[in-house]
Amino acid sequence: MKKLVSLLLVLAIAVTLVACGGSKPAETQAPAAPAATEAPAATEAPAAAEAKTYNVGVAIYQYNDNFMTLYRQEIENYFKTLETDTVKYNVTMVDGKNDMGEQTNQIDTFITQGMDVIICNLVQTSSAEVIIDKVVAAGIPLVLINREPLGDNGDESYPGIINNPTVCYVGADARQSGTYQGEIVRDLPNHGDINGDGVVSYVMVVGDPENPDAQYRTEYSVKALTDAGIEVKELVKNVGNWDQTKGQEIVAAALAQYADQIEVVFCNNDAMALGAAAAIEAAGRKVGEDIYLLGVDALDECQEMVQKGTMTGTVLNDHIGQSHTAVDVAIKALNGEAIDNYYWVDYVKVTK
Ligand code: BGC
Repeated sequence: MKKLVSLLLVLAIAVTLVACGGSKPAETQAPAAPAATEAPAATEAPAAAEAKTYNVGVAIYQYNDNFMTLYRQEIENYFKTLETDTVKYNVTMVDGKNDMGEQTNQIDTFITQGMDVIICNLVQTSSAEVIIDKVVAAGIPLVLINREPLGDNGDESYPGIINNPTVCYVGADARQSGTYQGEIVRDLPNHGDINGDGVVSYVMVVGDPENPDAQYRTEYSVKALTDAGIEVKELVKNVGNWDQTKGQEIVAAALAQYADQIEVVFCNNDAMALGAAAAIEAAGRKVGEDIYLLGVDALDECQEMVQKGTMTGTVLNDHIGQSHTAVDVAIKALNGEAIDNYYWVDYVKVTK
């Protein structure tokens, strides 16, 4: 029995020794294996956060437009300034070439490309519904700019805008710009009546008649005079489609027909006013002396002309304020934040 106990004891010691010995090789191997994977992790710089890139589609009605050129360049500049190490904006901008069919295809492409947000300067506001429906159905937020689709009740009531929380319009109230043009004439010492016959005889150079900016500026410039009790007479009203060359042609023809009966030339924008100024000069007339000339936008060259007196006045169409608002709202929308349906930027009167 004693022998058996001693034998068991010896066996137990042997097993223990083998067990302890078994752990030894493990200890010596251990540093070798984990060292290979752990060491680099310890020396690696903290992992840089991945930059998130948002895709933004911007559809402009036409690149060949003085005002929209300033506006679209500022959209691109401003997006760049808002980029950070972690947020990038990949802006794809396209030229609708004043062709609604072309612009509709461009919007379809933006949808297929899966843009995170779309900013659209409609070619035709009458197509607003079609565009809004497509973009909303694709689940993409939409920021309409510069050309306002009007509801039956005037502003801030367009069904496609007020019924869709991810659709908005960013612009300026064109009635204000028209009113300012009229007020500049109203506030002249002779209230625009150069020949003293008690009537202000004017020429109206209209932008694009489908565009509320053109409709309202045409209406409200004259209304500011009649509201002040000033009698007016329209000699010529013609469509210049926002274009400098057309503005020049219209005013040259009007001057040829009505000569010094014309006291005021209202242009719905500065590009057409630049054309009008050339026609006025060619006809040997002098702005501020025997004729008045008004525009809208306050392009740099027109501000200089107002300074020099070769233009009576213009109205600042704030492309910086509008483009920045459009971009800020687009970013809110792509982040899933709630947006309003309408955002307004004020016009500013520009006189000497
Ligand atoms: C500007 C015009 C421009 C038009 C384009 C207007 O607000 O005053 O110069 O041609 O927008 O839609």
